[in-house]
Amino acid sequence: MNIEDLKIPTHVSIIMDGNGRWAKKRGMPRTYGHRKGAEVVIDICRDAGNLGIKYLTIYAFSTENWSRPEPEVKTLMLLFGKYLKICYDEAQENHMRVRVIGDRSGLSRELQEKIRVLEEDTKDFTNFYLQIAINYGSRDEMIRAMKRMIADYRDGRITLDELDESRFGSYLDTADIPDPDLMIRTSGELRLSNYLMWQHAYSEFYFTDTPWPDFNKAELVKAIEAYTMRDRRYGKVKEA
Ligand code: FPP
Repeated sequence: MNIEDLKIPTHVSIIMDGNGRWAKKRGMPRTYGHRKGAEVVIDICRDAGNLGIKYLTIYAFSTENWSRPEPEVKTLMLLFGKYLKICYDEAQENHMRVRVIGDRSGLSRELQEKIRVLEEDTKDFTNFYLQIAINYGSRDEMIRAMKRMIADYRDGRITLDELDESRFGSYLDTADIPDPDLMIRTSGELRLSNYLMWQHAYSEFYFTDTPWPDFNKAELVKAIEAYTMRDRRYGKVKEA
């Protein structure tokens, strides 16, 4: 398919799976895979922007990932710190708005501060929108949203009549962000893993056996080709 025939999704979400297996296959520690994975994130972000995708949401660390061995969790947290700095420079250069979704209160003060500054200093950019899910779980997000909504109800800021899907969505971490059109999961697993369960209600899913460290622009284009074909076959997906 020619690039110009692709139907470019507005919002792509990704579950970046397979870093550990990729590293193990090379006789290296799992953390080596995460390091390579972080490099791929930067490339894919650029590729997505160049293809005309406006929103990219990546699953970097789930609420369940805390149960991994401590050294692995520590490496991932260090990587996030480093990546947020790289992200800051990329964002300034390319006018990209960056937001972190998930329960940041569970992160170190240092990371929280980095996130605060990154979000604040990029909030007016509109070229591209990157969402990074860290300490994120859909169930946790919905419970946090419900708690705030119930507090607003108790204090008279919302009535039961006003509560509908869009109002509930405004309490989620993804308020103001359109739902993903296409969800990609790498490395052969066919699960949603507590990722954007509300927001993925109508998304197309694309699964590939390619592990995240081997994911590249050609793989992204393949996913968009599949998305384009499904859209042609079924017309407007939301009405299917
Ligand atoms: C899944 O692979 C990947 C993760 C839990 C972490 C994702 C993190 C990165 C891609 C690197 C850092 C990200 C940023 C934003 C800097 P896995 O370890 O579950 O792999 P496995 O299924 O083969 O064990």
